[in-house]
Amino acid sequence: MTVLTVGSLPRYYTDLLYAVQDEGALTPVEEIMRACRSLWISLAVVIAVVMMASAQEPKKEIKHVPIKPTSAASGQEMYKTYCAVCHGTDGKGSGPAADALKVPPPDLTALAGKNGGKYPALKVSAIISGEEVLAAHGSKDMPIWGHLFWSMSGGHEGEVQQRIANLNKYIESLQKK
Ligand code: HEC
Repeated sequence: MTVLTVGSLPRYYTDLLYAVQDEGALTPVEEIMRACRSLWISLAVVIAVVMMASAQEPKKEIKHVPIKPTSAASGQEMYKTYCAVCHGTDGKGSGPAADALKVPPPDLTALAGKNGGKYPALKVSAIISGEEVLAAHGSKDMPIWGHLFWSMSGGHEGEVQQRIANLNKYIESLQKK
């Protein structure tokens, strides 16, 4: 049986109080009531503190907003507008949305390093276009850029290729030596 409810006394004690009131013998029950009330108050305070503490925990939610237009000629502008939120402005993976993701965004400045010193341009362009689907990039958290660039350009394949190539060059320029 659960008798604990915050802010009210358990039925058992109130019933007891009324029963005893009829007989005109209040004192011991009043004491119980007083003890209960202070217990209840401290319980309510503990719960409030726990609720306040959990409310202060930073909770991030990723919102999907309509894609902002950028110049297809600027890899840097596209990177800052579309990628930096997760991968970080410096490409190292600590963008503001990073800690809200299940899979942490990888360090894009280490792509060449992880590939024996050679920047994996084909792999990167396949990932951006969506030919190579990554779990996080293909999930509902993360759109496939190729599709978005395609709809932004009104189905103009040349522009889609230009965007992917310029983004790719920009990411290449971020590689640590
Ligand atoms: C919503 C967050 C988010 C955004 C925005 C984002 N990425 Fe990613 N990206 C990730 C995550 C998470 C992974 C790791 C995915 C996995 O391994 O499943 C990843 C992986 C990658 C990889 C593979 C890296 C490797 O080590 O293999 C590349 C390349 C990449 N992203 C490029 C981009 C580019 C270019 C943009 C912008 C056009 C972009 N990302 C925007 C979250 C994001």
